[in-house]
Amino acid sequence: MDYDVKDLALAPGGKARIEWAGLEMKVLESIRCRFEAERPLEGARIGACLHVTTETANLMATLKAGGAEVALCASNPLSTQDDVAASLVQDFEISVFAINGEDNDTYYSHIDSVLATRPQITMDDGADLVSTLHTKRKDQVGEVIAGTEETTTGVIRLKSMESNGVLLYPVVAVNNAFTKHYFDNRYGTGQSTIDGIIRATNLLLAGKRLVVFGYGWCGKGIALRARGMGANVMVVEVDPLRALEAAMDGLEVSTSMNAARVGDIFVTATGDTHLLRKEHFEVMKDRALMCNSGHFDVEIDIPALEGMSKNRRTVREFVEEFEMADGRRIYLLAEGRLVNLAAAEGHPASVMDMSFANQALTAEYVFNHTGDLERRVYDVPEEIDSEIARVKLETMGIEIDELTPEQEEYLRSWTIGT
Ligand code: ADE
Repeated sequence: MDYDVKDLALAPGGKARIEWAGLEMKVLESIRCRFEAERPLEGARIGACLHVTTETANLMATLKAGGAEVALCASNPLSTQDDVAASLVQDFEISVFAINGEDNDTYYSHIDSVLATRPQITMDDGADLVSTLHTKRKDQVGEVIAGTEETTTGVIRLKSMESNGVLLYPVVAVNNAFTKHYFDNRYGTGQSTIDGIIRATNLLLAGKRLVVFGYGWCGKGIALRARGMGANVMVVEVDPLRALEAAMDGLEVSTSMNAARVGDIFVTATGDTHLLRKEHFEVMKDRALMCNSGHFDVEIDIPALEGMSKNRRTVREFVEEFEMADGRRIYLLAEGRLVNLAAAEGHPASVMDMSFANQALTAEYVFNHTGDLERRVYDVPEEIDSEIARVKLETMGIEIDELTPEQEEYLRSWTIGT
């Protein structure tokens, strides 16, 4: 078995943490039990490019239990948990190519190692696997049945490929399942982003002005949790509807230039590029702190920041100080990469349970529908989404009502009015 991880001696610690996360992943556990019995993925080659975390390890084990041959690489150079990577190789006999802190060339050579296993199903978080396959290993595309995509940024890239007519196989947007983005993007990103900021800095959020760029599901979660910690939250948005929503959620809404002058902590979560750039750095307060929770490290214009500063140094793990010509200090967390995965451990297992249940069931779905799907971006089938919600509630010990026959009849009728 081929692999490239930091140190296999880290495996025992990784195994214990994988098991700990598994305790909160009961939906995935139920799928794993069924997969062990039914082996619905027998012989399927799955290539995954995901954050290598304890939660991902539980997904990999589930796919393997279903009969798949799995190879895994990282979807971000800083998110790999080296002990988990080691345990996946040693204890689960899964090919992993991922080392925390790997440089760009190694990152892409690890993607290439996964593609060298000639996957029939690609499982992406950010679409780097799909895009590399479509550019550098195009000859293999015909072997792929379908792909799945975990995150908003990846779905945006895939939709762009679809509309440009270059997407060469079907991909299911796992991100768009309700049991994914309602919970993972909102509560997962909300909690883990705050966790990353606190672990990196040990700052008190209470009384600070925290500016969130973007009021999508991730931005909403970050704002909600920051407010819960006592921060004064300000939102920067370009979409009028979302800006209005933020205003009526009781948050201050402002332009990026105004926000830059008054903010203490800036968090980007838009999926777009250069939200914070030269003109913002010019007016920021001394000791302003910036971090990013969007998929790529492009939301903060780091080259511009570097160009304006007379000194750049690391002041504690995950915290870099940029000293401006006028003496102001601006701090950047985790090199502008996903702060929740670099400085903390990503979303907690309980939300990843639903995201990865979607991944496992979608992999089964596409394998069962080999040849039936077109070259486009699909949503997760509704039955899968609602079944995951039902089982999740069950695992949480929550019961809900059903409509009475009279209520069902009332909803079907149109003749009954005032
Ligand atoms: N994305 C965000 N949090 C994650 C986690 N804990 N594991 C894998 N992918 C993630």
